[in-house]
Amino acid sequence: MKAQAPGKLILSGEHSVVYGAPALAIAVREKVEVTLEPLSEGASITLSSDSFDETECALSDLPVLQTQLDKAYEAFLAGERSINGLLACPTDLLFYVLSLFPAQPGRYHIHSTIPAGSGLGSSAAVIAALLQTTAAAEQSATEFMQLVRFCERLQHGRGSLLDAAACTLGGVVRVQNDQVSKVELAMDGGWYRINTGRPDCSTGEVVEYVRQCHGKSSIWTEFSDLTGQLEQHWSDVSQRSELLRINHRLLQKIGVVPAEVSALVAKIEARGGAAKISGAGAHRGEHAGQLLVYWPEEETENSLAALSGLQPVRLVLSRLGACHEGN
Ligand code: MEV
Repeated sequence: MKAQAPGKLILSGEHSVVYGAPALAIAVREKVEVTLEPLSEGASITLSSDSFDETECALSDLPVLQTQLDKAYEAFLAGERSINGLLACPTDLLFYVLSLFPAQPGRYHIHSTIPAGSGLGSSAAVIAALLQTTAAAEQSATEFMQLVRFCERLQHGRGSLLDAAACTLGGVVRVQNDQVSKVELAMDGGWYRINTGRPDCSTGEVVEYVRQCHGKSSIWTEFSDLTGQLEQHWSDVSQRSELLRINHRLLQKIGVVPAEVSALVAKIEARGGAAKISGAGAHRGEHAGQLLVYWPEEETENSLAALSGLQPVRLVLSRLGACHEGN
């Protein structure tokens, strides 16, 4: 059996979506693929990937891990543990996903073209691709994305449904609280992403930082209005750029754009482009993961590479959400 799920990029509404504002995200061509070789006689699961050593877990140990991690999350909610400490290693999250439904014994190989921990939704995508190998795949899309979010909570803490919705449904999604819809926004030319590097802090940490500093702020109304306007004026190219610039300034205000990334955005803006971080960003360190750039001109790719010293990647929408083939 083969299963897959796409990564995502947030067009507008990261962080504010956690406080009930609407957000827009797209599923992208970068994806996670899981290949399952079932072993009918086996009593264990072996996980392997390009980024970690082969790891085995007995099927009988999965419920124990599940209980441990559920308790750890309760302790996080009670303020007794930090979000970073919940998973002893990345494979704990993967075994947790496979503990939720009777998992097939066998070898699960994970191949990902999504850079980990840098705003492209790698956690949600790997969770969704693994869930597609289980009975979760038979659930409705609404139930499936809630399951993805449920697992992702171990990494993102008190996050939103946004990443889970984008990788479950594919295309462009609008999320506000538990309301999810697909929207038609043409992803015409001029959209790029630049990976500014893996942040020093995890998404869960940044979400908690923002909650502590701005959880009760009125700034979320400004984000909310902005996302509404972006959706409404999508076809107006100059408004699109202006709204992206305003979005960047709001993200700076909540402290998730490192100075180095702000300096790069200033250079892009000075040359006529617009950019903002996409994803959690970072409240410390120099890197903020993905930078979303809108700069519709002929030489954008070269100009961006020269300004940033990094390789820009043109955005390609994935219409396909999480899915599988074979049994
Ligand atoms: C992370 O991709 C987006 C955040 O808004 C967190 C969330 O929505 O769960 C920062």
